[in-house]
Amino acid sequence: MSSPSRRVLSGMRPTGGLHLGHWRGVLHNWRALQEAGNECFFFIADWHALTTDYANPGDLFVNTREMVLSWLSAGLDPQKTTMFRQSDVPAHAELFVLLSMICPLPWLMHLPTYKEQKEALQRDLDTHGFLGYPLLQSADIMIYGADCVPVGEDQVPHVEFTRDIARRFNRFYGNTEDFQSKLMVTKKSLSVDVQTAIETYQKDYQQNGNKQALDDAVSLIDELVVEENTKQLLRDDVRYGGQEVLRVPQAMLTQAPRLPGTDGRKMSKSYGNTIDLTDVPEAVEKKIARMQTDPARVRRSDKGEPTRCPVWSLHRVFSDMDTQNGVAESCRSAAIGCVDCKKRLSAAVNDDLEPLRERRAAVDKTGIVEDILADGALRAAKSAEQTMQEVRRFMHLVS
Ligand code: TRP
Ligand code: SF4
Repeated sequence: MSSPSRRVLSGMRPTGGLHLGHWRGVLHNWRALQEAGNECFFFIADWHALTTDYANPGDLFVNTREMVLSWLSAGLDPQKTTMFRQSDVPAHAELFVLLSMICPLPWLMHLPTYKEQKEALQRDLDTHGFLGYPLLQSADIMIYGADCVPVGEDQVPHVEFTRDIARRFNRFYGNTEDFQSKLMVTKKSLSVDVQTAIETYQKDYQQNGNKQALDDAVSLIDELVVEENTKQLLRDDVRYGGQEVLRVPQAMLTQAPRLPGTDGRKMSKSYGNTIDLTDVPEAVEKKIARMQTDPARVRRSDKGEPTRCPVWSLHRVFSDMDTQNGVAESCRSAAIGCVDCKKRLSAAVNDDLEPLRERRAAVDKTGIVEDILADGALRAAKSAEQTMQEVRRFMHLVS
């Protein structure tokens, strides 16, 4: 069975220029999701940038443009994917406000990222905006009914948190009279045995949090010979005690190769050890020429051990198998020197970046980024509005 197209959503804060780590760790994966025919929404989280950088916003506008340019150069295609800027779709803020009514403060305060980020950043983050960061992220995700949220490991707790908020919302507002009366009719049509079995599972799941009981109930429901919307009603009842108004999303952990920077630490702008997507070929060569190598290989005649060398870690990502095998062997036998080894790596990295450079050059001149963002915002707003109409109705703001 081919998997049906999913709705995929992810975002990035507009930090400015992107590097090899973003390309291989994130954008590569986004593009694959796009090419697999999923319905993708990727956006620039400029409000999220303000939660930590409110005192020095820098140039969010310029950074946003630069980031979209990098996305396009990585092969994201505005014909297939909706790309937009968070602040262009104010409905995110509306959902954020409404969710803030039901979001327990301890859920936010106990997220691991809250304490960690506060300690790491060492600035005044005793703000409402910073505490609410994950809830704004939840709104970003749920307003598009996203099924699938590709993120790095550090963001998984935020998606888990989103799942909890969605369930809480559905329990509060999805349990309407209409839902209950339909449910009653449905249940009456089931045999007593089936009814009892479902109720037993449901209790075990809702009271004890037993996830196996939920799975068992769902499989039992799936096997019933009834219409699909009846099944949906029963599944919603077991899961939420109400209708699924807000979709419960799933985190998709990106298996990203951990790319070392030029100094051997993780590639990161804050370490100043990046190879950037905008680097010209000579700049790439220079940066790689200065890279750390196996510290035990001091002289050209010393034998090296690739697994202790960051240059090798990059070969593993960018070089073909023959080059990899050749380099590893001749490093261990001292048949190749680090200078030559690095030249081969530069060639591989530059080959990899060449298509990105070409695409960037093609779009940079055209001023097309503004059009893409404007069009993306329209498409995003349309989809967001559909969810908001439901949310307003279920929260009794409109009839
Ligand atoms: N918090 C994410 C990060 O720092 C960015 C982000 C904002 C995001 N909203 C999102 C990611 C929604 C996925 C889904 O990387
Ligand atoms: Fe690293 Fe290559 Fe030198 Fe071996 S030859 S230590 S892999 S740079």
